[in-house]
Amino acid sequence: GQDPQRSAREPRGGEPALSWFAPAKVNLYLHVTGRRADGYHLLDSLVAFAGVGDELLAAPAAGLTLAVDGPAAAALAGETDNLVLRAARALATAAGVPAGAALRLHKHLPVASGIGGGSADAAAALRALNALWGLGWPEARLAEVALALGADVPACVASRPCRMGGIGEVLGPAPRLPPVGMVLTNPRVALPTPAVFRARQGGFSAPAALPSGWDDAAGMAADLAALGNDLEAPAIGLCPPVAEALAALRSLPGCLLARMSGSGATCFALFGGADDAVAAAQLLPEAWWRWGGGLHGPGA
Ligand code: C5P
Repeated sequence: GQDPQRSAREPRGGEPALSWFAPAKVNLYLHVTGRRADGYHLLDSLVAFAGVGDELLAAPAAGLTLAVDGPAAAALAGETDNLVLRAARALATAAGVPAGAALRLHKHLPVASGIGGGSADAAAALRALNALWGLGWPEARLAEVALALGADVPACVASRPCRMGGIGEVLGPAPRLPPVGMVLTNPRVALPTPAVFRARQGGFSAPAALPSGWDDAAGMAADLAALGNDLEAPAIGLCPPVAEALAALRSLPGCLLARMSGSGATCFALFGGADDAVAAAQLLPEAWWRWGGGLHGPGA
């Protein structure tokens, strides 16, 4: 079907391109429920997407190129380039078509930060090229290519709230989410995901029991407060500024819940509404990456 995140663009002077939003992924809670023989961890998580993200433009071209710009482009250590280009090549190979596209990535999200960055970009590339190359693949088929690129990429292909299981490939419906405000912040530190998983100690958590939905932000925050992110303690051990970010978020007026996302170091806070979150984000240290707004998607 038609991707609702697709929007037509006429870039200055160039080929008409399609623009695709790659929203930040937020793990509202994250339980590590086991470990597979290959070392990957089994997870139970409620994933939502924030109204901030990267933007990927795709225009027809004979060869495959990627240009990166935007506020977070300088911090890019080649990894996201590789993930976007790897996504393009993987889809071309799987579909048996030539890998031709001129891609431009406008980078806003901090890299290696627990909110999907590179995974969101790779997922946007899969959606964009599915359209540009006229493949018309359904999401489930894109998700197979996505999983080979990273455990978070299938959820980012979906880009809607979902309950995540397995190592990230089992995607189920999320409880009905109320309108909430969200602040994201990163004290400008990058944390490598494998190191955080390795630093985790203790046993495994049980999957959460969730209601079918929440009517308001306060009720949602109260239920989420009883859960946790099992990677938060190991991330703080490796990177004490994560604890500072959490303390700063908790001190913001109207903060209902503060928690780390994914393997960090980005942390989020929930608020009663998007306006509260926009105002609260301004109170965080200017030296940090910070954003306030609402969730991405219908009902946000
Ligand atoms: O799949 P992805 O590239 O996102 O994962 C990076 C690393 O994080 C993996 O190589 C693995 O060490 C760890 N990981 C894990 N369990 C997951 C996801 C990631 O152990 N479910």
